[in-house]
Amino acid sequence: MTSFLTLTRPDDWHVHLRDGEGLAAVAGDTARQFGRAIVMPNLKPPVVSVAQAVAYRERILSALPGDSGFVPLMTLYLTEATLPAEIERARRSGCVYGVKYYPAGATTHSEAGVRDLSRCHETLRALEDLGLPLLVHGEVTDPSVDVFDRERVFIERHLIPLVQRFPRLKLVLEHITTASAVKFVLAAGNTVAATVTPHHLLYNRNALFQGGIRPHVYCLPVLKREEHRQALVRAATSGNPKFFLGTDSAPHARSTKENACGCAGIYSAHAAIELYAEAFEAAGALDRLEGFASHFGPDFYGLPRNTTSITLKRESWQVPETFPFGGDRLVPLRAGETLCWRLQESA
Ligand code: DOR
Ligand code: ZN
Repeated sequence: MTSFLTLTRPDDWHVHLRDGEGLAAVAGDTARQFGRAIVMPNLKPPVVSVAQAVAYRERILSALPGDSGFVPLMTLYLTEATLPAEIERARRSGCVYGVKYYPAGATTHSEAGVRDLSRCHETLRALEDLGLPLLVHGEVTDPSVDVFDRERVFIERHLIPLVQRFPRLKLVLEHITTASAVKFVLAAGNTVAATVTPHHLLYNRNALFQGGIRPHVYCLPVLKREEHRQALVRAATSGNPKFFLGTDSAPHARSTKENACGCAGIYSAHAAIELYAEAFEAAGALDRLEGFASHFGPDFYGLPRNTTSITLKRESWQVPETFPFGGDRLVPLRAGETLCWRLQESA
């Protein structure tokens, strides 16, 4: 049995680093394993301008030791007021790598998102022309649509027409959760890719109700049926470069998760690469982890692959029950449970 696994240093193509005390608490976990990360802009207020993205990038770097080597890849939050000129500024900035499309009301801090995408057509045309990717939270917000069908219906109603209208648009369907999403991505051209989270590879929706209601595995898009989890595992371990790593690690204070109206978001940055290794090993595909985690993301974004490496060791260790998180605590994925891979300290 393999007992060490060395990989080109991976990148996280979708993470929430938050701000202020939350940022200070979590940034080190992401920077310890990943060379770069696409940082979500759903702060309050959202990161809608290049100037805000540049300032947020500085706050992220200030939260890390000077020699961390970590590179935050910033994103802008698309609103119906985002102008093509801001997209041009973003392209020129050298620090913004994507524009995030949240359907208004779909998830945490998405109120400022897009209600009617036709109002953004000129801006989308600018993205397409400049080769800047659109990063999509793919769920309809129509309350008459079942929560578990929101991704599939979004693809049918919005995504298929979108890629027809903008065939050269680079698009990442983020944190995919269904066989429908896998099918859509496979059928689309090379301009379309998807990220897959560790939790959607490891859990199905039963986890939400294991012996009682489990707020710490509640996220959006919500976990789906086992057949969907299996479709995601097949896609992620297939070696197809359209599918790559994006943790969607999304920390929330314990008091806001263990709540009558608990927030959506799973914290996985404390052990992300270990969790992916576990999922790939369970599928008999450890040899495919490096492509998924370290090669396909930079290839899609047109960036060089990292030149340093990380090593995982087969070693049992227990995940802490909680971590400090500002004045509260953060409950990580697998709190108190044992993991079988462990990231080695970098030299
Ligand atoms: O579970 C989620 N949490 N899904 C999202 O789309 C947003 C995220 C967050 O920011 O907490
Ligand atoms: Zn997210």
